[in-house]
Amino acid sequence: MSLKDSLSKVLIIDFGSQFTQLIARRVRELGVYSEIISHKKIKSKLDKKKIRGIILSGGPLNVYQSKKVKFDKKIFKYNIPILGICFGHQIISKELGGRVKKARYREFGLAKLKRLRKSKLTKNFFKKSGSNNVWMSHADEVTKLANGFKVIAKTETSKFSIVENSSKKFYGIQFHPEVTHTENGKIILKNFIFSICSIKRNWSLKNQKQILIKNVKQVVGKSKVICALSGGVDSSVVAKLIHNAVGKQLTCIFVNTGLLRKNEETQVVKTFKNKFKINLIYVDAKKLFLNKLKNVSEPENKRKIIGNLFIKIFERYAKKIKNVKYLAQGTLYPDIIESKSVTGSQTSKIKSHHNVGGLPKNMKLKLVEPLRLLFKDEVRKLGLELKLSKEIVLRHPFPGPGLAIRIPGEITENKIKILQEADDIFINSLRQHNLYSKIWQAYAALLPVKTVGVMGDNRTYEYMCLLRAITSEDGMTADFFNFSKEFMQLVSNKIINNINGINRVVYDITSKPPSTIELE
Ligand code: XMP
Repeated sequence: MSLKDSLSKVLIIDFGSQFTQLIARRVRELGVYSEIISHKKIKSKLDKKKIRGIILSGGPLNVYQSKKVKFDKKIFKYNIPILGICFGHQIISKELGGRVKKARYREFGLAKLKRLRKSKLTKNFFKKSGSNNVWMSHADEVTKLANGFKVIAKTETSKFSIVENSSKKFYGIQFHPEVTHTENGKIILKNFIFSICSIKRNWSLKNQKQILIKNVKQVVGKSKVICALSGGVDSSVVAKLIHNAVGKQLTCIFVNTGLLRKNEETQVVKTFKNKFKINLIYVDAKKLFLNKLKNVSEPENKRKIIGNLFIKIFERYAKKIKNVKYLAQGTLYPDIIESKSVTGSQTSKIKSHHNVGGLPKNMKLKLVEPLRLLFKDEVRKLGLELKLSKEIVLRHPFPGPGLAIRIPGEITENKIKILQEADDIFINSLRQHNLYSKIWQAYAALLPVKTVGVMGDNRTYEYMCLLRAITSEDGMTADFFNFSKEFMQLVSNKIINNINGINRVVYDITSKPPSTIELE
C-alpha cells in the first residue's frame, strides 16, 4: 500500500468549480491530506475507509437540471461529515428535502454575512460585530431548508447563507470560504476538518515529496524518461524530482527554441549538466521554430505549433535513447484548469497552455506530470525541499511558448532580439532595486505597433515596448505592481537609450481577471 492510500483524507467532490483545487489546497495548508474526485465518478471510485470528511464544491450547473448533475446520494448514508460550498450547499438542500430556485437577487463579489446562531462550524469565525465580508458567486439560491436543518447566518438577499444539521454533521454554505476575499474563510474549513471531522494532521511537504518520488518510481519502473527541461521553476523541480526517483534513467532535453530570454540557454546547461550532473541533451531548434512560426499571428495557432514542434523533437530524441517510454513535464494545476478540467467535470476554456492543449492526439510517449495537482507556491516549496537553489526556485514563471506570446502578431528574428534586450534591462533593474522578489512575475513584451518619436533632432518611427509586473498568489488572479515614477522613468530611459527599435514604453495596469497575465 502506498503512503497516499494509508492517509486519512478529506474527499472533495468536484462539480466543476474554478476553485475546487483551491479548496484542496486550503485543506492541505491545514496539514490534512485531501483528494479530488469528479461528481461523475463517485460511484465507481469511492473507498470510504480513509475518508473522514466530504466537501462538495461549487460549480456552473443548476441543481434543478437533474440530468446533467450525476451524483450518488449514498454519500448521505455513510455517516461521514459533509460540507457543501455554493452549488454543493444547494445540492445538499435539494437532495435532503429543501428547495432551490433561480435567485431573485444574484450575489457576485463581496456580501455582508450576519450571524443568527452559534455553530461548531463558525467558532471564532465571526468578528465581534457578528458580521463578516464573504465572497459570493451564485445565481441560484436555497429557498426552503432541508429536513432537520437550521439557519446559522444570512446576508441581506440570501436567507440561508450557512445552514446545518448538526446531529448528522451536514453543513451548507452559500459563499466561498476557500478564497482569500472571504474574511476568516479558513477558520470555517479548520472547524470542519478538526472539530467536526476530528481528523489529525497528516500532511506536510516532506511526505508530499516522498509520495511523488514513490509514485514516479512505481509508474516508470525500469523504463527511461525524458524530461522537457526549460530551466524555469516547474521543469527544474520536475527534473530534480525525477532524478531523485530514477537517477540515470532520466535524460533531460533542453530545446533552444530561439524564444528564450537573453542568455538563458547558457545558464540552463551550466546548472543542470555541470552542477547537478543530470544527463542533458541540448537541441538547437532556433531556425525550425522561426520557420514554422513565419506569418503566424493567431495566438492559439502559435501555441499549437509550438506545442506540436516540442513533442516532435522529444519523440525524435527519444528514439535515439533506447527504451524511452515516458515524457516528464512540469505541468501545474493552473495550466490544466484553464485548458480542461483535472477531474473530468465542466470548466470553461480560456487558452491552450502549450504543454496541455497543444499536445497532438497521436503522441507516442506516455506523460509523467508529477506536479499536475500543485500550485506554483507549492512547487517552489517542494523545490527547496529537493535542495534546488533559491535562484532557480524563486525565479519568475516563464511560459512554455516563451517570447512568442509576448510578441503579438508576426514573430521575426529582429523582434525577438529587440525584446530579449528590453526584457533583460527590465529584469536586471528589478533585481538592482530589490524589487524582483516582491513581484510574482514581470516581463517586457513587444507590441506590433509603431509610433512616432523624436530622438536628438530626428523623427523616429519604432516599436512600442510594454512592461508587465504583477503580484499574485498562484497565477489564477493577479494585480499590477505599483512602481514609483522614478523607477519607471529609469527603466523607460534605459530601454530607449540602449535599444534600437523601441521609442516608446508603456506599463500594463490591468489585473487578472479581466486580463490574463500573458498577452496571448
Ligand atoms: P495567463 O496568461 O494564463 O498565465 O494568465 C498564467 C501563468 O501561466 C503562465 N503561462 C504558461 N505556462 N505554458 C506554460 O508553461 C503556457 O502555455 C503558458 N501560458 C501562460 C504565465 O506566464 C503565467 O505565469
